[in-house]
Amino acid sequence: MTEAVLLSRVELKNSHTLKVYEENEGYQPLKKVLGKVEPGVIIDDIKESGLRGRGGAGFPAGVKWGFIDKDSPKTKYLACNADEGEPGTFKDRLLMMEDPHQLIEGIIISSYAIGVETAFIYIRGEYHKEADILDAAIAEAYKGGYLGKNIQGTGYDLELILHRGAGSYVCGDETALMESIEGHRGNPRLKPPFPAVVGLYGGPTVINNVETLSAIPFIISKGAEAYSAIGTEKSAGTKLFCVSGNVNNPGVYELPLGFPMKKLIYEVCGGMKEGRKLKGVIPGGSSTPILLPDEIEDLELAYESATPGGFMLGSGAVIVIDDRWCMVKIAARLAKFYAHESCGQCTPCREGTTWTYKILKRIEAGGGQEGDPELLLDIQDNMFGKTLCPLGDAAAMPIIAIVEKFRDEFDQHIKEARCPY
Ligand SMILES: Cc1cc2nc3c(=O)[nH]c(=O)nc-3n(C[C@H](O)[C@H](O)[C@H](O)COP(=O)(O)O)c2cc1C
Ligand code: SF4
Repeated sequence: MTEAVLLSRVELKNSHTLKVYEENEGYQPLKKVLGKVEPGVIIDDIKESGLRGRGGAGFPAGVKWGFIDKDSPKTKYLACNADEGEPGTFKDRLLMMEDPHQLIEGIIISSYAIGVETAFIYIRGEYHKEADILDAAIAEAYKGGYLGKNIQGTGYDLELILHRGAGSYVCGDETALMESIEGHRGNPRLKPPFPAVVGLYGGPTVINNVETLSAIPFIISKGAEAYSAIGTEKSAGTKLFCVSGNVNNPGVYELPLGFPMKKLIYEVCGGMKEGRKLKGVIPGGSSTPILLPDEIEDLELAYESATPGGFMLGSGAVIVIDDRWCMVKIAARLAKFYAHESCGQCTPCREGTTWTYKILKRIEAGGGQEGDPELLLDIQDNMFGKTLCPLGDAAAMPIIAIVEKFRDEFDQHIKEARCPY
């Protein structure tokens, strides 16, 4: 059994309090390095650990930190991405509710390593309870001498600000997130320049996901080698998988990367609900292409895994779908989300997401026309890779996969002029 990296304390009573955190090795990693270990050495450690960003893209965390020019005269910032807007994803909220000090400690160590004295947590607008718990934990950390001036007598200062979003999915994109923190409408910025060069208020900025930063105390405490020993060669460590849909035991599970998808569904999650047949699995949040049952046969949940139909680990949000579901309806539901969340800045995304939803709704309602599947694919092709931020790709990928993999269902809807489900 792999040692828990992220969820070692969540079962403890009052796990969200400073007292319980301190009683269970909390803030020891910070004391080990703050003022004692050179920031560059910590960055090298994180590189060596193989920790990859858990927000979706899997970019190596230490490499990202290394992009920050330590000699830059500009103020540097760190922003923790707690927007958790990707449909199906509910892992970061567990970390924030049950072990907020682990995240705060991760932020302090990371900020120290990067040379940051002002850090933010950008939290999803709907997460009221989570934000209240974090607020209380931040106040406790200030009181305990872990935040503010001269942390633990080391001469290092750090202010941590909790910033609540207003319920926009696109604000989870790192550039929109920065716009939102700065008080502007959350429209994504064009890249380059990347945040590490020109980020918050024009300063070099690191943006990392909650789960990424929550892994830092373990790596500092147990060592880079202990962390990289978990998982696969290219995907180190554990990952939180949040499983929803038609399984017996949905929930958040911490598993080593490389864990077999079939084992996750049929053993960890207790198999399909009511013994139904598996129809498809959305493997990493709503933006990732759906997989057919034969595609998960030997699939390992790792960043480097690939299937002919395209596999993406994404945020680790596994949505399991049984044979009762109409795939046109699911596609329409996803399209509605992206049409609603498109910021409207660029034409392919603004128009593409809206028309995709309208066409899918029409097919579902029995008004499908011959050529609609081709039209849908053409619209996705006009979005994919042609938009200002990755939301365009995120909207196109699931629709392409559903139309291509469930073409029969689309044809049946059109032929029978009704939804057969
Ligand atoms: C539309 C959109 C929404 C996103 N939502 C989130 C989110 O809710 N949480 C998150 O951590 N990353 C999200 N991302 C990815 C971030 O832009 C960024 O890559 C990530 O926060 C980096 O952290 P990591 O390196 O630790 O993964 C989103 C990206 C896009 C394009
Ligand atoms: S791709 Fe969509 S969400 Fe992103 S900037 Fe363009 S319109 Fe806005």
